[in-house]
Amino acid sequence: KQRVLTGITTTGTPHLGNYVGAIRPAIAASQNPELQSFYFLADYHALIKCDDAARIEQSRREIAATWLALGLDTEKAVFYRQSDIPEIPELCWLLSCMAAKGLMNRAHAYKAAVAANEDAGEDPDYGVTMGLYGYPVLMAADILMFNANTVPVGKDQIQHVEMARDIAGRFNHHYGEHFVLPQAQVDDKVAVLQGLDGRKMSKSYNNTIPLFLPEKKLKKHINKIKTNLLEPGEPKDPDTSTVFQIWEAFATDEQTQAMRAKFAEGIAWGEAKRELFELVNNQLGDAREAYEDLMARPADIEDILQQGATRAREYSQPLIAKLRSAVGLKAMI
Ligand code: TYM
Repeated sequence: KQRVLTGITTTGTPHLGNYVGAIRPAIAASQNPELQSFYFLADYHALIKCDDAARIEQSRREIAATWLALGLDTEKAVFYRQSDIPEIPELCWLLSCMAAKGLMNRAHAYKAAVAANEDAGEDPDYGVTMGLYGYPVLMAADILMFNANTVPVGKDQIQHVEMARDIAGRFNHHYGEHFVLPQAQVDDKVAVLQGLDGRKMSKSYNNTIPLFLPEKKLKKHINKIKTNLLEPGEPKDPDTSTVFQIWEAFATDEQTQAMRAKFAEGIAWGEAKRELFELVNNQLGDAREAYEDLMARPADIEDILQQGATRAREYSQPLIAKLRSAVGLKAMI
């Protein structure tokens, strides 16, 4: 079976961008009997940008509850927490010794940190940890540990999946064909969902619409989406509008056509936002109830994660044993 794998970093509350970019396509893939899926909470990754233990704990619970509330079938998909799989950091080390430093120099997250330092007149590496620098290697270990063929992600993660390919190719070249070369899977329609301010929706920009806000708050957030000053009756450009972009990510093609026509006719922003609220709320309403219920049952979530870890290790333990042997670390007798 082809394998699908993706993860979410446990640093914040899941938002609409995570949903359309990763969770929704991943859950769809998990329902395809021809695929085997692996979905996980990337909590080692969380340590790269967050030193608030309570925040990470809370986020792990929220993200786990989100997957489950959205109907992930954990009998089919292998659903686990990264930090429950000790073979992952071990593989990360094996891969680190194969990953070129020059490749890491080109990683977006690292380059962004250096650029921000330079803008601020600081030393370029100010505050840059080895965790941040080696982030793409840890992500490669996540993917290669389960020999995933496809990785559903938003556009911002494509580079990391390509780096995983690169590192896998290099390892295979030296030690034999141990890894399949993974491929990112990106839905063009929603490659980068915009946030309230029109920039990429991101925990780091504080411009997100969390997935399971209570109804009233969801309405409030949607009302805060930045729009231009065009009055009702003036035609509006759907292609530069965040309201329209989010609409498109949730609507059927037919509904999108209809909204496009309404923009041309000059729908009022208030009205467009009201319709968007209804669209999103209808799609997420039932899952929201399930989410609230699960959040009150952390022991049940923990149980599910432990079962997932057991299943995940049925894959990771034999592979790491094979890799240890391939690189010269097997037992002497
Ligand atoms: P993270 O936690 O930042 O985001 C989780 C997923 O959500 C997608 N995403 C978006 N998609 C569309 N529009 C947006 N505005 C938006 N914001 C976020 C991301 O592209 C991602 O798919 N390093 C990863 C987590 C990770 C991982 C992995 C992913 C760790 N190991 C192995 C895949 C495979 C990250 O920080 O994603």
